[in-house]
Amino acid sequence: MSKPAVLVARAVFPEVLERLSQHFEVSSNQADDTWSADELAARLAGQQGVFTTASERIDAALLARCPELKIAANMAVGYNNFDLDAMTARGVLATNAPDVLTETTADFGFALLMATARRIAESEHYLRAGQWTKWSYDLFAGSDIHGATLGILGMGRIGQGIARRGAHGFGMDVIYHNRSRLTPALEAECKARYVSKEELLRQADHLVLVLPYSAASHHAIGAAELAQMKPTATLVNIARGGIVDDAALAAALRGKRIAAAGLDVFEGEPAVHPGLLTVPNVVLTPHIASASVPTRLAMANLAADNLIGYLTQGKPLTPLNDAVLAKG
Ligand code: GLV
Repeated sequence: MSKPAVLVARAVFPEVLERLSQHFEVSSNQADDTWSADELAARLAGQQGVFTTASERIDAALLARCPELKIAANMAVGYNNFDLDAMTARGVLATNAPDVLTETTADFGFALLMATARRIAESEHYLRAGQWTKWSYDLFAGSDIHGATLGILGMGRIGQGIARRGAHGFGMDVIYHNRSRLTPALEAECKARYVSKEELLRQADHLVLVLPYSAASHHAIGAAELAQMKPTATLVNIARGGIVDDAALAAALRGKRIAAAGLDVFEGEPAVHPGLLTVPNVVLTPHIASASVPTRLAMANLAADNLIGYLTQGKPLTPLNDAVLAKG
């Protein structure tokens, strides 16, 4: 029997490609070329599976051109690159890569928070530029992490990881807002108190965004929300671009409406709003929150396991649209 055909749309660990080729006829993109939607659709013709990252959009227009496609496996926990309704309507299974990145991403959220609040990037640029001539009492004085109020918007697994680090590691007072409230047991474990979004904005010394992107969360933090935050507050976004109105944030940072921001994700990335590139009080990283070598390998292997499980036995590990499985 011939092996199913699978396209790996981006460069990936060679050992993961090797695993996939034990089960599939694999077409790959190890040069990591950037494909247009049209090119992706052309390359997907005749393929039963596709290995995607959060950059490849799978929507109705693409699916109409790829009638043989059965599964798209995302090497990401976020899946706003998938039009899930269109995939379900076409009987195409969607899978993501949850859990394996939770702790690594929470570590990074904390690293970005600390770099931002304690002005590590800004002071490093100053030193490298040869501007450091003497010690002074207020040189790059920032805000404290320990004992401060940590606000978390979006309290899924990663939000909970950040809450635990803040509460147990740094003695922070943790408040959160989420679509649904955690169970009392989880709230106790995270030492986190549920508040309204308005209270969160008003009370947080440091606000970390960890909610999924959707039409409902588009510009969840815009000029009106930034205006409600403390002028001394730090904002960290490790969720998705588009949750923050980057133009409004650049203006708020320039006007010192809030003290500082740490951003790993951007509207329209890899492009970055020019206003953010020219303000000093922002730390910018290129969407690397899950990027430890073991975690990226675990994410790639989970995406591969979803392809192997579904296309060889009908059993994916982390399906997103179970309705496709129910239809058989
Ligand atoms: C990364 O952004 C992910 O969603 O895994």
